[in-house]
Amino acid sequence: MTQLLAPSNFPSNLTLSVGPPQLHFTPPPRFSTTSFENYAPQHPSQSAARDAVREFAIAAPRPSATGSWLRWRPRHRPQPGSGLYLDGGFGVGKTHLLAAAYHESSSVKSYLSFQELVYSIGVLGMAGAQEAFRDSRLLCLDEFELDDPGNTLMVKTFLAAAFARGTAVITTSNTPPEAQGQGRFNAEEFRREIQSIAERFTVLRLAGPDYRHRLQAGALLSQQEFAALLARETRLPVIRLEWLELLALLSRYHPIRYGELLRPAGSVYLANLTPLKDQNSALRFVHFVDKLYDLKLGLRISGDLPISELFDASYRHSAYAAKHFRCLSRLLELLGEGRQ
Ligand SMILES: Nc1ncnc2c1ncn2[C@@H]1O[C@H](COP(=O)(O)OP(=O)(O)OP(=O)(O)O)[C@@H](O)[C@H]1O
Ligand SMILES: [Mg+2]
Repeated sequence: MTQLLAPSNFPSNLTLSVGPPQLHFTPPPRFSTTSFENYAPQHPSQSAARDAVREFAIAAPRPSATGSWLRWRPRHRPQPGSGLYLDGGFGVGKTHLLAAAYHESSSVKSYLSFQELVYSIGVLGMAGAQEAFRDSRLLCLDEFELDDPGNTLMVKTFLAAAFARGTAVITTSNTPPEAQGQGRFNAEEFRREIQSIAERFTVLRLAGPDYRHRLQAGALLSQQEFAALLARETRLPVIRLEWLELLALLSRYHPIRYGELLRPAGSVYLANLTPLKDQNSALRFVHFVDKLYDLKLGLRISGDLPISELFDASYRHSAYAAKHFRCLSRLLELLGEGRQ
């Protein structure tokens, strides 16, 4: 009998795993073994990016055998750090290269998503976050996205101090630096705001196909297929929820906690999907899929519509359109994985 995790089994007093002993930010399970060797460039810009990222990761400051820092000597003012900004469409391998850089580097290093950084600064305070990442000489930051003026200021302050300490930063984004914040807040003011940070980054643009399309694209299942797969699911325990039950559950937690909701599970079964009616639910679901994708959990969904109709057509022209398209790309990969 399939072992099910019901919503009522979820802990009600979730606490975020941020705090000194838990601050080991590492790539999530999906990217735990990615390397430069198992990256197969599909476009010349990808070969160029792979070589540049690798060189950058190897050159990041690292401790010598005696414990002193090469290229960074605490008694002197450190050389300001520099950054690489990997910009490109969905599934071109930006996160793959980011995690490969993390694995390859022998620096003291941290890997986290932009959202986790913003949240950590919120929880620890600016001084606490600076302290938490003080020893990191390589900071790998996935999905850089300045979508809120408050976050922009926080991240700018954080990164300015990190660069001043000599930290090397690699980040990924679906949005080129000059378009960050577009459609969400005052572009002029924003440009002035991030100017000093933007000029520390070298932008690498990755073109090419969505690598996820190499897989058989996933689709929604009929009730019968869904039930049959659930009965013989081996990725246990299973979280099985009605679609509307999931949306209600997600609205009760801060998105940073979705990882904690999902972590005990092996797979997630969502029954009777219907199109998302409001932007808040849509953004929460996007976060949920991002986390499920990173954790490399199984996902099956039943419903009788094409998955492309999940997000309302009006969203395609909104400032959040990229998030929705990225979510569809990840959903197709997840739903296609392990299809018999
Ligand atoms: N050129 C490649 N060679 C081998 N594996 C790849 C390549 N490109 C992508 N992949 C794999 O395809 C999947 C999607 O890649 P990845 O998540 O790195 O893309 P991304 O550019 O970060 O996409 P997104 O914009 O959605 O974040 C991952 O499992 C990754 O390991
Ligand atoms: Mg990515």
